[in-house]
Amino acid sequence: MPKQTVRDLKLDGLKVLVRVDFNVPQGKDGSISDDRRIKAALPTLTHALNHGASLILVSHLGRPTGDPGTDAPFRLDAVAARLSALLGKPVAKVDDTVGPAAKAACAALRPGEIVVLENVRFNKGEKKGDPKFAAELAGLADAYVNDAFGTCHRDEASMVAVPECFPPERRALGFLVEKELKILETLLGDAKRPMVSVMGGAKVSDKILIIENLLPKVDHLLVGGAMTYTFLKAQGHEIGKSRCEGDKLDEARKLMSLAGLKLVLPVDHLIATAPEATAEVKVVEGPNIPEGWFGMDIGQKTIELYSGMIRTAGTVVWNGPMGKFEDAPFRDGTLGVAKALAASTGVTVVGGGETAEAVETFGFAAKVTHVSTGGGAFLEYLEGKAFNSLRVIPDREG
Ligand code: ADP
Ligand code: 3PG
Ligand code: MG
Repeated sequence: MPKQTVRDLKLDGLKVLVRVDFNVPQGKDGSISDDRRIKAALPTLTHALNHGASLILVSHLGRPTGDPGTDAPFRLDAVAARLSALLGKPVAKVDDTVGPAAKAACAALRPGEIVVLENVRFNKGEKKGDPKFAAELAGLADAYVNDAFGTCHRDEASMVAVPECFPPERRALGFLVEKELKILETLLGDAKRPMVSVMGGAKVSDKILIIENLLPKVDHLLVGGAMTYTFLKAQGHEIGKSRCEGDKLDEARKLMSLAGLKLVLPVDHLIATAPEATAEVKVVEGPNIPEGWFGMDIGQKTIELYSGMIRTAGTVVWNGPMGKFEDAPFRDGTLGVAKALAASTGVTVVGGGETAEAVETFGFAAKVTHVSTGGGAFLEYLEGKAFNSLRVIPDREG
């Protein structure tokens, strides 16, 4: 059943608290290195403004432990300035969340105006889901919209207890969350076949639950990245010094027997004398890695094999880089898979922090159907978890 969205709210004259995920990647000097998450919230914000609302924006940024004084890089000033530039209109920023500055700014808000409150995680009540803090935050507004897809797997106050303070007809999802959920539902429901899942990344332990949940739905599960070597070791092969989770071998065996022929492992590997860009590299075929060498990327034959299966798929979902793509010598596998997704005529979905970053950096984001703004949220949804942040938003009537 679809959830109530910002389209269903009577917005005219209302002060709307929009929970956004402006947790953007930052450079060492605190500057914004990627504003994708801010851009992704714009459709909801402009819709609400165009319908006579004023906006109170609430977000976290990073995981601050101190207060705004000691944790200055976690303040939301730069984010508010970027939002103002993207919207082409003034955006006020206050230095607290439920303190006197926030209360005064919210009380004075007029239709069409926007205020960004300070990083909500400076308040201890946020992480704890404290009802008293939630009531104070909710007291600033007349209605609540959740457009923070990247945070939907968290039970923090601004995600669950705050919306619970509003009457059901004044709680809704924003367009970004609506879009992300629609795509994820397609993947878990009636996806166009053949469906191919490409799984890579650092650890098999992070991905076991997703693999289990996706296996009955996919036709092929293509494996790459460091997790390859846990699977190969579990099959009894030599893996040299490649990354391996020794305590997950039984689970890897269980997954492989569950998957049968659906699970495809690399047929060749780019290996290196050290996991560093300056190391000596070569390609080996077959499932064994020589003693002393590190498996760092899938090899060219695997790139071709996987690309062929991706290009002809009806649906592709990709999470986890194929190698240590951050270093140029180990980039080709991830680049090859990204190219194949871009060339596919099927529905292509990319999710996960590093995977999304890779696709963005390679310049393929516009060529795939959807790059999720979620890292953990994307993964946990594919694991089949139910989110409290969504439970508290009512279904649409009729
Ligand atoms: P995501 O954030 O997209 O879910 P992960 O966090 O699971 O992805 O994994 C990403 C990391 O895995 C990358 O930083 C990459 O360097 C690392 N990685 C992938 N393959 C290898 C490998 N063969 N050896 C070492 N690191 C790897
Ligand atoms: C993310 O970047 O995955 C979300 O913004 C959630 O952030 P968190 O992992 O610090 O809760
Ligand atoms: Mg990651």
